[in-house]
Amino acid sequence: LKEIKVGLCGLGTVGTGVVKILKNHQEEIKYKLGCEIVVNKILVHDIHKPRDIVVNPEWLTSNPDELVNNPEIDVIVEVMGGIDQTNLLIEQALRNNKHIVTANKDMMAVHGQKLLKLAKANNCDIFYDASVAGGIPILRSLSDGLASDRIQKIMGIVNGTTNYILTKMTDDHLAFDPVLKEAQELGFAESDPTSDVDGLDAARKMTLLANLAFKMEIGLDDVEVSGISNISQEDISFADSLGYTIKLIGIASINNGKVEVSVEPTLLPKDHPLALVKNEYNAVYVYGEAVGETMFYGPGAGSMPTATAVVSDLMEVIKNIRLGISGNSYVSPQYETQLKKNEE
Ligand code: NDP
Ligand code: HSE
Repeated sequence: LKEIKVGLCGLGTVGTGVVKILKNHQEEIKYKLGCEIVVNKILVHDIHKPRDIVVNPEWLTSNPDELVNNPEIDVIVEVMGGIDQTNLLIEQALRNNKHIVTANKDMMAVHGQKLLKLAKANNCDIFYDASVAGGIPILRSLSDGLASDRIQKIMGIVNGTTNYILTKMTDDHLAFDPVLKEAQELGFAESDPTSDVDGLDAARKMTLLANLAFKMEIGLDDVEVSGISNISQEDISFADSLGYTIKLIGIASINNGKVEVSVEPTLLPKDHPLALVKNEYNAVYVYGEAVGETMFYGPGAGSMPTATAVVSDLMEVIKNIRLGISGNSYVSPQYETQLKKNEE
């Protein structure tokens, strides 16, 4: 294998970062993989839109068939967003034996288990580390680094936009709306930022974390969610005067086989490690029976951090292709049992 051909769906905040990393780190990537990554199609809405990055105009298309039904393409990197339509596109790509890398927590929280099953049935990988906590390799840490442990609790800040808003409201006494606008301009917010501010984005991420950590199938309906849209400057000042900071905290825990997942604004003492996480940064505390307490910290949103996770996943997919061991990504044992039953 001299080169792996990639179809990139999306050339916005994250897609632009992916193209930059593939170009700027080309030598390191080639050295580590022993082959080259070549992007040969990019799916966008509008092929004529002015862009911050120069790409070969022949790569751009608004026709998904040119990627998912293209026999030359080995891997689809999906960084365009969307749930049901995008799921259909990914299903089609998997049926055509294309491996998938995605940053799309919205789709994975709704269709993830089905997609993982389809991927396995087609001996394909589907990696989605970028979908939770941006540049922090948290899904990979849960599935690889902490694989031997029994995870009992995950707690953290998993949405960059709301943490950015709360930080600016607390430290700079700014109002909610202009800071949300700033987060949108910086590329942290979702195209519909209500999913950020209402806690849904964090809830989606907590289900992905819980599914992987506890080897269960937790749906969004199982999560208690409340967001930050009702938090006022007065609430923040009052908390401050008592020595507390308000943070949007996700918690997932397992007790005697019962899983509880929640996302809600929480009062933390100002010197609590999670209270010190500022701006778009995320932090995830993981407690494992054997390892004890671990903490993962880093940029939770934004172009280059998220693209780092996407390209690292892409490299993992390519390593598996080269080793001939594709088709085992993040599938829980419980799910494998179900899969076997379905196959019988
Ligand atoms: P953007 O809105 O910046 O970019 C979306 C890109 O996808 C654009 O290039 C757009 O085309 C293209 N696109 C969208 N829908 C379609 C469609 N139906 N058909 C063809 N092209 C389409 O999004 P982001 O880069 O911010 O986010 C992308 C994904 O990554 C989302 O799933 C998001 O949740 C996830 N993510 C984002 C993070 C971030 O910090 N921004 C962090 C982690 C995950 P055009 O350019 O022509 O408009
Ligand atoms: N809108 C998301 C956030 C992007 O602010 O965390 C990263 O998933």
